[in-house]
Amino acid sequence: MSSTSKDKRILIRGGRIVSSEGVFEGDLMIEGEKIVDTGVKLDGGADETIDASGHYVIPGGIDVHTHLDLPFGGTVSADDFYTGHVGAAWGGTTTHIDFAIQTPGQTLNQTVDQWHEKVGDKPVIDYGFHLAVTDFNEAVLKEIPGLLDRGISSLKVFMAYKGLFQVSDSDLYNTLRIARETGQLVMAHCENGDVIDELVKEAHANGHFEPKWHALTRPPEAEAEATGRFIAIAEMAGAPCYVVHLTNELALNQVRRARSRGLPAFAESCTQYLFKKYEDYELPDFEGAKVVMSPPIRSADNWPALWQGLADNTLQIISTDHCPFNFKGQKDLGREDFAKIPNGSPGMEERLMMMYHGGVNGGHYDVSRFVEITATNPAKLFGLYPRKGALLPGSDADVVLWDPKKERTFSGESTHANVDHTLYEGVTVRGVPVKVWRRGELLIGDGAFHGKRGTGQYLERSVAG
Ligand code: URP
Ligand code: ZN
Ligand code: ZN
Repeated sequence: MSSTSKDKRILIRGGRIVSSEGVFEGDLMIEGEKIVDTGVKLDGGADETIDASGHYVIPGGIDVHTHLDLPFGGTVSADDFYTGHVGAAWGGTTTHIDFAIQTPGQTLNQTVDQWHEKVGDKPVIDYGFHLAVTDFNEAVLKEIPGLLDRGISSLKVFMAYKGLFQVSDSDLYNTLRIARETGQLVMAHCENGDVIDELVKEAHANGHFEPKWHALTRPPEAEAEATGRFIAIAEMAGAPCYVVHLTNELALNQVRRARSRGLPAFAESCTQYLFKKYEDYELPDFEGAKVVMSPPIRSADNWPALWQGLADNTLQIISTDHCPFNFKGQKDLGREDFAKIPNGSPGMEERLMMMYHGGVNGGHYDVSRFVEITATNPAKLFGLYPRKGALLPGSDADVVLWDPKKERTFSGESTHANVDHTLYEGVTVRGVPVKVWRRGELLIGDGAFHGKRGTGQYLERSVAG
């Protein structure tokens, strides 16, 4: 039977099969694009048998926060829907949700059309879109419910980037009111854009232009204030809310307080906020530009709180905010002024390995929680479960064979994203994906990429349960 056959049966035998509930030693059967069985000593005729002994078998990773092919900061993020997908696949991620961001004057439906055009014939992994609303008027608000018919069950607003993406509190409130009726989940970039704008002007007036001023003009308080405000506005609107890329303990405490009051407040952090530190902005030779992103990297004394938040479910998801810009030719745009450095960094390929190494090997959580924050919760909160994020009969056969003993050292040359650096240069992790299937098709195996351009599918998402 050929490897492209629609009903090929692949038996993954004798692995440690991981779900968010626990781990059991057993087998998993794939038929065509689906998982058809899991159990002990499965039989029933396979076309191919994979020996998984000594390995974990986990659901393909889901990254719910990416920006591929995004015009931003005077340039365009360096990965498109092919190169970004190749890097993601190498890292064991088989699904992502990208932000379709409205350009002022565009309708929301035009924005969705534009993002589908960007994807074109490129996709390798499966993908969906959140809709980031930036230009509000009556007609735009009326379009929101109809996005569900196009598979878009989450919206995003920016409370920062004044004069570009930032929305008013009334627009935020009105969006949440609509979402309360439709069931769409509203996500927010939480930073106080007005105060940040003043701090940037002050820094410039005082002759400060180096990369570290990006962080110094976006203090943790600006993030914590906006996080608290977002949650409070969501409470007044009677809607759930989701905080994106949370970076620090002050902001985390806002989410923890809300959840302890029983509010449906959810939050993600991103890999880099658990591994990079403020001092990286002060590296010589403009190296600090590599970590210019918003919100910025914080001091390392925030790391324990973030690990704790991931372990105790104050944070439900770890994503990447993958928005890569080349050091040479793109980050360079801000050599003379930190405010002109394109905001964003790569991370889709490294996410699972960094979060396994730091989280599981580091003793912060077990492998089930690792799967929960990287795949299961993303699927549940964003309307993909149990098709994605689970190894259940009927789920898509997005399966990763994970070698917990194998090591990999990251370098800008050896990572696969279309960008000239990694944030984790020289970092060695233990725990690596060795085979990756997306809907039963082998994307990664025997140290090679086998995926085919154009085979990734658009995911129509429903509202979360
Ligand atoms: O610096 C960042 N995070 N760039 C991407 C846009 C955003 O705010 O998520
Ligand atoms: Zn953001
Ligand atoms: Zn982002």
